[in-house]
Parts: sequence; structure tokens; C-alpha cells
Amino acid sequence: MRPRSQLALFLALAPAVLAQPARPLVVAHRGASGYLPEHTLAAKAHAHALGADFLEQDIVLTKDDVPVVLHDLYLDAVTDVARRFPGRARPDGRYYALDFTLAEIRQLEVRERVNLKTGEAQYPARYPTAAAPTGLRIPTLEEELTLVQALNRSTGRVAGIYPEIKAPRWHRDQGRDPSRVILPVLARFGYADKTAPCFLQCFEWEEVRRLRGELGWKGRLVQLIGASGQAADGTDYGWLVSEAGLKAVATVADGIGPALGRVVNWPAAGSPVQVTDLVGRARALGLAVHPYTIRRDDLPRHCPDLLALHAALFEKARVDGAFTDFPDLTVAFVRR
Ligand code: G3P
Ligand code: CA
Repeated sequence: MRPRSQLALFLALAPAVLAQPARPLVVAHRGASGYLPEHTLAAKAHAHALGADFLEQDIVLTKDDVPVVLHDLYLDAVTDVARRFPGRARPDGRYYALDFTLAEIRQLEVRERVNLKTGEAQYPARYPTAAAPTGLRIPTLEEELTLVQALNRSTGRVAGIYPEIKAPRWHRDQGRDPSRVILPVLARFGYADKTAPCFLQCFEWEEVRRLRGELGWKGRLVQLIGASGQAADGTDYGWLVSEAGLKAVATVADGIGPALGRVVNWPAAGSPVQVTDLVGRARALGLAVHPYTIRRDDLPRHCPDLLALHAALFEKARVDGAFTDFPDLTVAFVRR
């Protein structure tokens, strides 16, 4: 299916997703990553089938400037790169996607994420790390968008996309410019303005401003906000959530994607949830709030269970949407 031929159907079906949501949006974080290795096409297809409203893509560049869907700058925590390409690590011991051509990356097998320090699964109850061969590959952005739009057509249900430009400052320091590569791909698939079911996201404030200004992005835009500290480019998350910071964000972005703890937290075991004022302050400026990440096997500290987390986010904090590794469970909650 050619991208242009998908556009009419895509726009015809889009209002279901784009209309002011009657319920919060469920964003499948790296796909249905609670069930299948993250960012594989299998994880995205499963998330689509589980009813996610949006499917997330983290995007980095290959050596030959192809945008691929991969969370880390590195290949080693989710593929067999060290076995297939020994000696290709940088002095820090990491295998950077930017050092491999697409043809090389296509040779890698994706597996469930491992903690490189321990060699153990990051999330032991998920897809087995020992399952091999998986037959799973790192997709290009183009392959993934083709899949999403094909599923939108074959199922008659539109799932939107939620691409994140990963580490743009780092890429630019390496002489690359991921945003300039990614925006034309999005446009070719019909994601070019706010009528399209797409939220473009980034942690780096300079890049968020650049996307809206110099690069002319007309679609929806979300400023991500980490739990603490700074982004890789020096973005001060504390400033972003200040009154001045939020006001500045509201001049260019449509929403914020804060870490869960900036919205809800449990001060001690057995204590009731505390809801911060961030959602209210952001909403007052017209910003949607989509926190990350709901994980039933990695709950916030002192949060008793997944039901408590869902209730805190959607009933107490009343967020507009959230990222989740378990889209079926979050969909079930918001549809109650
Ligand atoms: O983009 C929202 C959420 O995915 C941010 O965290 O590190 O999983 O990209 P990360
Ligand atoms: Ca992300």
C-alpha cells in the first residue's frame, strides 16, 4: 500500500480519534510492550488489536540516515548486536544505532529488554528473554507507519501515532538532524497538521521550539518532562513545570507528557495518593496532560496496585491520556 493512497481513508476515519475525547486517550508505550518485545511490529499490531488509541514510536537514526523505531541510542539491550557484530562497540562499550547501516540493523534479532549490568530481564514476568529465535526485527519508521495505516483500514478503527524524536541534541552533535529526516516521512504518511491523529513528542525544550519554529511542524506537539533533573540537552524539568515554564511551553506545544510522579504519588506505604497541581495548571493554559508510564509490574513507589494507579490518574488527577505498557488493562479501566 502506498502512503498517498492511504491518506483519504486515514482522514475519513480520523475524527473518531481526533474528536475531543469522551474518555482519556490510551497510548501504547512502545506498543503492547508488556506482552511482546518493545517497538517490534508484533508489539504494535497487538496494541492496535487491544484497542489502544495511539501507538508510540521512539525514533533514532541509522548510519545511513534512516529513521528506525528504537528506544535507546544503543542496540545492545534489546538485540543480539554484540554477538553478530563483535568489535563494533564504541569505547564506552555500547553499540550505537548510528554506527550501523539499515542493512546491518536488519540482521539483528530483537528480544525482550535485558538489564546489561545483570544480564537479566528488565521485567522478568514479560516475554521470555530466552525465547529464540524471535524472528523480530527493528522496524523503520516507514514500515511501522505502513503497518499502522494498513491496520486502520483492515479493522476500520483508527489508531493514531505518537512519535518521539530521541536525543536530537546528541544526534546534532554527531552531525545529524533527526527532526529534518523524520518530519518529511510523517508528512508523506499524512501526518502534517492537527487534523491528523498524531502527537509529536520530545524531551528537549530547544527542539520542541525548533520543531514549531524553524522546522514548521504544524501538527500536535507534546513537551515531555522527566521525573527530575535535566534532559540530555540541559532542559531543566523543574523550570518546565514552573508557571513561567508552562506558559512558555503553551506558546508552542499542545500538551505535556510528565513522568507519573509529577502528577500522582504515594508518600508512604498505606498512605492515600497525593495529586499535584500540575494537571490543573497545565489545563488552565490549554495544555493536555499525558503522563508516562503505567506498568503493572513496575508501579510507582508505595502505589498499592494497578487499580489504584489507574484510579489516581484518571479519576483523581483526571489526565487527558496516559502511556501504558499494558494497553488492554488501561483501555478496560477508562472504558468502565
Ligand atoms: O515518551 C513518553 C515516554 O515514552 C517517555 O519515556 O524513556 O520510555 O521514552 P521513554
Ligand atoms: Ca518515548
